[in-house]
Amino acid sequence: MLAVEDLTAGYGPVTALDGVSFTAARGQITAVLGANGAGKTTLLRTISGLVRPSRGSVRLGEHDLTTVAAERMARLGLAHVPEGRGVITELTVEENLRLGRLVRLRRVGAGDLDRAYALFPALAQRRRQSAHVLSGGERQMLVIARALMAEPTVLLLDEPSLGLAPRIVVQIFDLLASLVADDGLTVVLVEQNARSALSIADRGVVLNLGRLVVSDTAAALAGDEQLRHAYLGF
Ligand SMILES: Nc1ncnc2c1ncn2[C@@H]1O[C@H](COP(=O)(O)OP(=O)(O)OP(=O)(O)O)[C@@H](O)[C@H]1O
Ligand SMILES: [Mg+2]
Repeated sequence: MLAVEDLTAGYGPVTALDGVSFTAARGQITAVLGANGAGKTTLLRTISGLVRPSRGSVRLGEHDLTTVAAERMARLGLAHVPEGRGVITELTVEENLRLGRLVRLRRVGAGDLDRAYALFPALAQRRRQSAHVLSGGERQMLVIARALMAEPTVLLLDEPSLGLAPRIVVQIFDLLASLVADDGLTVVLVEQNARSALSIADRGVVLNLGRLVVSDTAAALAGDEQLRHAYLGF
C-alpha cells in the first residue's frame, strides 16, 4: 500500500538516501533498521514530504506523495511521529490530543478522546495535567495518541523506544501490534532496537549509509546471524 521506489534524497552535497525501494503492506508493521546515520530518519522525512527527493517516488494508493505538500499528508491518511517526543508542554495532555484531531480525515465524533484514553490509560489519569509533568514513556504515548487522533491509515514512527525502560518499550510495542491487528493500520517503524522491532514487525528493511542492504520478512532477518552481527547489533 505504501510503495517506495528508487528514493534518493540528501542535504546539499550529502546523499542520505540512495536508490531505496521497498513496500509497506497494509495492516503490517515494517521495521526500518540500521546504524546511526544510515538514513532512517531521512527516509521517513522524505515519505512525509519534509525532505524532497532528487529521484524516485513514494506511492500511497493512487497518490505520488513526492508531489504532495507536507501539510496535505494528514488528509491522505499519513501520520508522522518524529524523533524526540515533541509534546507541547504549555498545554495539558488533553489539549495536546485535541490538536491531533484538527487534521483528521472524518468529522469529529465524541469517541476519539475516549478511544485514546482506552488505548493509553496512563494518559487518562493525567488528562488535565500539563504535558510538562509527563515521563518519557508517557510523552511517547502522548505523541502516538495525538497522531492517532487524525485517524491515519499509515503511521510513521521514528525511534519510539529511544531512552525508554524495557518494560515501557514492551508496552508501547504491544499496543502498536494490537492497533495493526485491530484497525488494519500500516506502520513503518524506524528503530535502532532491532531485536524488539523485529519481534513485532512483519517485515524489515535494513539500511546502511543510505542504501538498502536487504528487505525481507522479520523472521528471516532475525534468523540471519551474519546480518544481525553486521548491521543489527544483536
Ligand atoms: N539536516 C541535515 N543536514 C545535513 N546532513 C544531514 C541532516 N540530517 C541528516 N544528515 C545526514 O544524513 C545522513 C543520514 O542521517 P539520518 O538522520 O537520516 O540517519 P538515521 O539513520 O536516522 O540516524 P540515527 O540512528 O542517528 O537517528 C547522515 O550522514 C547525517 O549526517
Ligand atoms: Mg534518526
